[in-house]
Amino acid sequence: MIIDGEAAVTPAVLEAMAASPDARVKDVTAALVRHLHAFIREVRPTEAEWEYGVEFLCRIGQTNTATHNEGVLFSDSIGISTLVCLLNNGNEGSTETAAALLGPFWRDNSPPTENGGSIVRGPTPGPKLFASCQVLAGGKPVAGARVDAWHSSPEGVYENQDPNMAPMNLRGQFITDAEGRFRFTSVKPAGYPVPTHGPVGDLLRAQLRHPFRPAHLHFLILKEGFKTLVTQVFVDDDEHLESDVVFGVTQALVGGYQLGQGPAPDGSEGEWWSLDYTFHLEPGEARLPTPPIA
Ligand code: BEZ
Ligand code: FE
Repeated sequence: MIIDGEAAVTPAVLEAMAASPDARVKDVTAALVRHLHAFIREVRPTEAEWEYGVEFLCRIGQTNTATHNEGVLFSDSIGISTLVCLLNNGNEGSTETAAALLGPFWRDNSPPTENGGSIVRGPTPGPKLFASCQVLAGGKPVAGARVDAWHSSPEGVYENQDPNMAPMNLRGQFITDAEGRFRFTSVKPAGYPVPTHGPVGDLLRAQLRHPFRPAHLHFLILKEGFKTLVTQVFVDDDEHLESDVVFGVTQALVGGYQLGQGPAPDGSEGEWWSLDYTFHLEPGEARLPTPPIA
């Protein structure tokens, strides 16, 4: 088709793509073109602005490394990760779900840890945390589920961001018992800023947004016959609970972290906290995501 003006561009592109034999590819790419062309018509970028936009996307890729995923961070920072998550969990959006975005720091090979064990694998000063959780489906315990737990340190960094931390510190993999329970000891996580050295940092600064996430524990629960639950449980007194830079906080995910009274369950001295939380699985496909980092 010979283009005879601005209005002819969109139908020409859609026609050129229409032969795609895969119906899903055809629908998704056509919708992408329709929406992006509508965006361009609304925004009417100058040529210099469009160059900047393309350069911004290129920088997202260039900022990726084995230990940093700027693409995931971009998706997170504009609410798309949470939107995809909430559209895909909670029975087509009809019920509240306790799913949340994966984030960039999950690793597929967390150390198997006995139920009740510690995931502190090196010196990690901070208040202790005793987590006691149960996994249910339709009100019944889910035994034998794989549970990955991972979180930031009391200084707000993940093990693979800090060369001084022991490998796999604050990461563990558990198997739920006959009552669907798993327990572990750790330290209380702190909130942290997402990495801002790349284009996402430029975006946040341009929008006068702070880069912080409220403190949280991450969980991934995998059991054949159930939709894999990827989620986070937030610390309820965190100052950024209502302004998470990646929009991950829903009401169901605000945990009841309790300040311990008296001696800690393991007899240790000092401040300690406990968390009781119940996870609910939905029927569906058990699948592991692709780890965003090495
Ligand atoms: C996280 O929760 O680990 C996370 C999520 C989004 C961006 C950065 C970190
Ligand atoms: Fe996190």
